[in-house]
Amino acid sequence: MSARYELHGSVAVITLDNPPVNGLGYETRKGITEGLARAEDDAQVKAIVITGAGKAFSGGADIREFGSPKATQEPNLMSVIRTLDNCTKPVVAAIHSVCMGGGLELALGCHYRVAAPGTQVALPEVKLGLVPGAGGTQRLPRVIGVENALNMIVSGEPVKSEVLAAIPGQKLFDKIVEGDLLAAAVAFAGEVAERRPLPRVRDLKAEHREADGYFQFARNTVKAMARNFPAPAKCVDCVEASVKRRFDEGLAFEREQFINLMMTPESKALRHAFFAERAASKIPDVPEDTPTREIRKVAVIGAGTMGGGISMNFLNAGIHVTILEMKQEALDRGVAVMRSNYEGQVKKGKLTAEKLEQRMGLLETTLSYDDIRDADLVIEAVFEDIGVKEQVFKKLDEVMKPGAILASNTSTLDLNKIASFTKRPQDVIGMHFFSPANVMKLLEVVRGEKTGKDVLATVMKLAKVIKKTAVVSGVCDGFIGNRMIEQYSRQAGFLLEEGCTPEQVDRAIEKFGFAMGPFRMGDLAGNDVGWYIRKRRYVEKPDMRYSKTADILCEMGRYGQKTGAGWYDYKPGKRDAIPSPVVNEMIEKHRKELGITPRKISDEEIVGRLVYALVNEGAKILEEGIALRASDIDMVYLTGYGFPLFRGGPMCYADTVGLFNVVQDMRRFARNPHADPSFWTPAPLLKRLADEGKTFN
Ligand code: NAI
Repeated sequence: MSARYELHGSVAVITLDNPPVNGLGYETRKGITEGLARAEDDAQVKAIVITGAGKAFSGGADIREFGSPKATQEPNLMSVIRTLDNCTKPVVAAIHSVCMGGGLELALGCHYRVAAPGTQVALPEVKLGLVPGAGGTQRLPRVIGVENALNMIVSGEPVKSEVLAAIPGQKLFDKIVEGDLLAAAVAFAGEVAERRPLPRVRDLKAEHREADGYFQFARNTVKAMARNFPAPAKCVDCVEASVKRRFDEGLAFEREQFINLMMTPESKALRHAFFAERAASKIPDVPEDTPTREIRKVAVIGAGTMGGGISMNFLNAGIHVTILEMKQEALDRGVAVMRSNYEGQVKKGKLTAEKLEQRMGLLETTLSYDDIRDADLVIEAVFEDIGVKEQVFKKLDEVMKPGAILASNTSTLDLNKIASFTKRPQDVIGMHFFSPANVMKLLEVVRGEKTGKDVLATVMKLAKVIKKTAVVSGVCDGFIGNRMIEQYSRQAGFLLEEGCTPEQVDRAIEKFGFAMGPFRMGDLAGNDVGWYIRKRRYVEKPDMRYSKTADILCEMGRYGQKTGAGWYDYKPGKRDAIPSPVVNEMIEKHRKELGITPRKISDEEIVGRLVYALVNEGAKILEEGIALRASDIDMVYLTGYGFPLFRGGPMCYADTVGLFNVVQDMRRFARNPHADPSFWTPAPLLKRLADEGKTFN
């Protein structure tokens, strides 16, 4: 039973006890209704208190039940709240720490609420593409006012109990209690035990003086912000129903919206991402209790684009960092960039000047390996050149204390080879950050053949400390993310050869939802980066076909924003991409040389070719065991590559389209006379799943 029942004199106390956050799973719900029945039947009981054990009142639905029949098995949450509504004895919710989602809806079903200060109160359902489904949208406006409630419901963000208690005329909390909450709640229950009629939130009115104007305004604002997500607008509809409809009707309306949203691909995508993020931290052969190493001091080699950003992550988490460079100028430049990044945050009001100094105070710089010997973790971020990496890792092997973790930020090089430069390959691991490293959520953790389990477990744990989403990748060229993006970029190049302009490709994929199309992205990151990698590929994989347009672009010196010209033109100091007649002419000329007659290519074909290029490579990565699960690949793309969240990542999107349809489309693309047919051969795993009518996730 995951709810306890005990008597405190004439007050029955029902304590939710379902760690970690008292999720309202089946057993807990049953426990509550049974406790209520017992209290009703006991003539000695005059009032009831409901509270939560441990570190929450209740975090809401039990996510472990999501998608299983248990989630809705009676008594479901609505039935529990109905039981509360019909209770003949006063019920007091004693709320502390966390009161969210179904937990708040449960509390709103009680007659009275007393809360500890500092409690995080929220209806976060919108974050999973849903509206609250057990009366939250109908009851919350009745106790804190329509506008306050709508803000909370549309944002899903938590608000502290004392802030809510300060709302004039609010009826959410009857009391805010410092100190012993349970004792205070029991005393309060005693005080109100005889009071009748019992106050019910449903009997209050949700009112707004200018409802029509207000809801119109809210709808417009929400529409602009929510873009591809339907749930926020539905939240507005539901709150409007709390004002305009009878309580029961409003409740039914909310339920209908909840059920409809549950079926939308957007909500499915958000729920997928929610679970994918949790799954990514689990590694089958590295149990959660694997011992980890302590990381108190970090060293970073290289103060370039990546080294500086990487260091900031640790400084932000209060971890001491020493950066090592070859020359003082490089150090000075790197440190100045970090400081100016922090100053930017101060200007925006995201950081105080004091915090800035605190963080920079944790930073030391050096030109000597002697100063980093005792670091617990060293992250190498020097030039992407195996010769340079060899020098650095041999030196690290020589100087670092035993047990130090030696990490490389390489984006393409063979981690096993890097590990072989040392006599301690078990301590070597890849920590592949994404640029800008202080902003991007993704961290690809590259597990070498010999990487120790404790090293892997340590880095996964550390990723949480620096607030990254860590995804484990095996060793291969480009790991998960860049290996897939290479196929996407190749395909983007072929689209140019066959008739597209860069802006047409970018527009189509941005309309699909990508933050940035491949060509705008190239201009931002620097087209020379890909050029450098391709030159290596031409030697290593001579059979791989690439469009040469990107090389010609670089030969023209058009590296992107940093040279003021790339796939697009840029006005000095501006980042707006202006279609370039010079580039379009170059593409046409190249097309002629290839003997290709351009054709009109639909947006649908552009999107299909780009996204399925990702999906097919993703399937190979999955089959080879480079990624542990399809949802890990989705996580990489959602957090590192701007794949639209409302589509759940490339593999989730392919599942939504149906793998049979994906394979059919790939066959259609292969029939294109200019296609490289090998490109569109479905990966064996994709073909098998499509044949069997299965999905990746
Ligand atoms: P960068 O050229 O901006 O910085 C490299 C820095 O390393 C320079 O400041 C250089 O002086 C220093 N350096 C070179 N050899 C050194 C040595 N032997 N000892 C000490 N310092 C040395 O390069 P960036 O972009 O920061 O890349 C660094 C690494 O990060 C590369 O392996 C790259 O593939 C990887 N990476 C880069 C990403 C990007 O978007 N720029 C993204 C993810 C990974």
